[in-house]
Amino acid sequence: MIKADYSRARSFLTDNEYEESYAKAEQSFQLIKQESGEGAEWLGWRKMLTDPNDAILEELDSLASTIREEADVFVVCGIGGSYLGSRAVIEALSSFFGGAGPEILFAGHHLSGKYLEQLIQYLEEPNDEGEPKSVYLNVISKSGTTLETALSFRVIRNWMEDRFEDVDGRIICTTSATGGALNALIEEHGYQKFVIPEDVGGRFSVLTPVGLLPIAIAGIDIRSLFYEAVSQYEQLEEDPQNVLKYAAIKHALYEKGTVTDLFTTFEPQLNDLCGWLQQLLGESEGKDGVGMFPAKAVYSTDLHSLGQFVQDGPRNLMETFIQVEQGNDHITIDEDEQNHDGLNYLSGRSFHEVNTRALEGTLQAHYEGGVPCIVIKMEELNAQHIGEFIYFFELMTAIYCYCLGVNPFNQPGVEFYKKEMYKLLGKK
Ligand code: PA5
Repeated sequence: MIKADYSRARSFLTDNEYEESYAKAEQSFQLIKQESGEGAEWLGWRKMLTDPNDAILEELDSLASTIREEADVFVVCGIGGSYLGSRAVIEALSSFFGGAGPEILFAGHHLSGKYLEQLIQYLEEPNDEGEPKSVYLNVISKSGTTLETALSFRVIRNWMEDRFEDVDGRIICTTSATGGALNALIEEHGYQKFVIPEDVGGRFSVLTPVGLLPIAIAGIDIRSLFYEAVSQYEQLEEDPQNVLKYAAIKHALYEKGTVTDLFTTFEPQLNDLCGWLQQLLGESEGKDGVGMFPAKAVYSTDLHSLGQFVQDGPRNLMETFIQVEQGNDHITIDEDEQNHDGLNYLSGRSFHEVNTRALEGTLQAHYEGGVPCIVIKMEELNAQHIGEFIYFFELMTAIYCYCLGVNPFNQPGVEFYKKEMYKLLGKK
C-alpha cells in the first residue's frame, strides 16, 4: 500500500480551502468511474487492470527470456510515453553498474545525429567475448509517425539490415492495431508486433507492452509489477481517500497560487521515475492556460544546486518527496582511530540511515521555509511497490486534472512544434 504523509502540506490550507477541493476531487473520481468526463474514451489504463490479459504477459515473458539469452544489446526506440515509463522502472529496479542480461539502450527520443552515430559505433564494437554484438530492437510508437522515433528507427534498421541476416527476427514493433507507417513495415517484413490498446494514451501505457517488454528484458518480474497495480486499483476503488487527499491538496494549493510541484527523491535510482511523473503530469495538466509546472530534483545532489532556491526563493512551489523506507545497501561507516575527518560520530550507522536523516532534515527545513511538502512512501524498492506507485499516480493525475477542468488525456500543445518543424523541413 502506498503510504503518504500530507501533514506538512495540509497545514498551508484552511479547512474550507481543503474541503472544497476534496469535494471536487470526489466528483472528479466519479467522472472517471462513470466514464463521463472529457476524454473518457482514454480510460483503458484502468480497464486493463480489471481484466488482466495473462496471455500477453506470458508472451512478453517468453520473448524476453529468449532475447535475454541471445542479445548483448536491446535498443528501445521511442519518445515521450513510449519510453519514459520503461526507462523509469528499469532504472529503479536495476543495479547502478553492470548486471545480468542485455544492455538496454534508448534511441528515438531526440534528433541528435551525434548520438545515433556514436550508438552505431558502439553497436559495431565487439562484445566482451570479442564476438560481434547481438542486437535486438524494439521500436515503440502508437502513431507510427513520430519523427524522432521514425528517423532513428530508419537509421538503426538500415544498419541492422547490413549487419544481420536474420534482421527481421530481431526487430519488434509496438504500435496501434492498424494504420500508420509502422504497420506497413510490419506487413512487409513480418516483424513481431505488440499492440498498444487504442484506449490507452502514451503516458498511461507503461503497463501495456510499451513498457512491459523492455522491463521484462531487464529481468524485472512484470507479473508482480502488473498485479500490484491491479491490487492498488482495487484498494483505491474501495477506499480512495489517500489519492483524493493528494489531488485535493495539490488542487487547493494551485488555487492559492502554487505554480510548481517539485518531485524530489533521495534515491538516485528514482531520477527517471520523477521524470516519468514529470511527463505524466506535464502533458496531462498543462493546457488551456492552467496547471502547475512539474519539476524534478535528486537530493542530496540537487540540494547543492536547487536547494537554495527551494529554501529561500519565491514561496510559490510545493514539493513531493518520494521516499523509500527500507534501504538495501549494506555499507556502514567504520570507526577511524585518527578521526581526522571528524566523522566518528556516525560510525556504525548505515548510509541508508544517514540518507534518511538527510531526507527528514530537508523536509523539515523546506516546510519551515514555507514550502508545502507531501511525502509519498514506498516500503522498499521492488516491482510490487513500483506497480502500486504507477497506478496511484495515474489515478491521481486524472483526478487532479478534472479538478482543474482539463482533459487529462490529450496533448494538443505538442502538435505546435511539429507543425513549425515540418514547415521548416519542407514536409508536404
Ligand atoms: O503521452 C503521450 O501520448 C506522448 O508523450 C506520446 O507517447 C509521444 O508523443 C510519442 O508518441 P508515439 O507513440 O505516437 O510515437
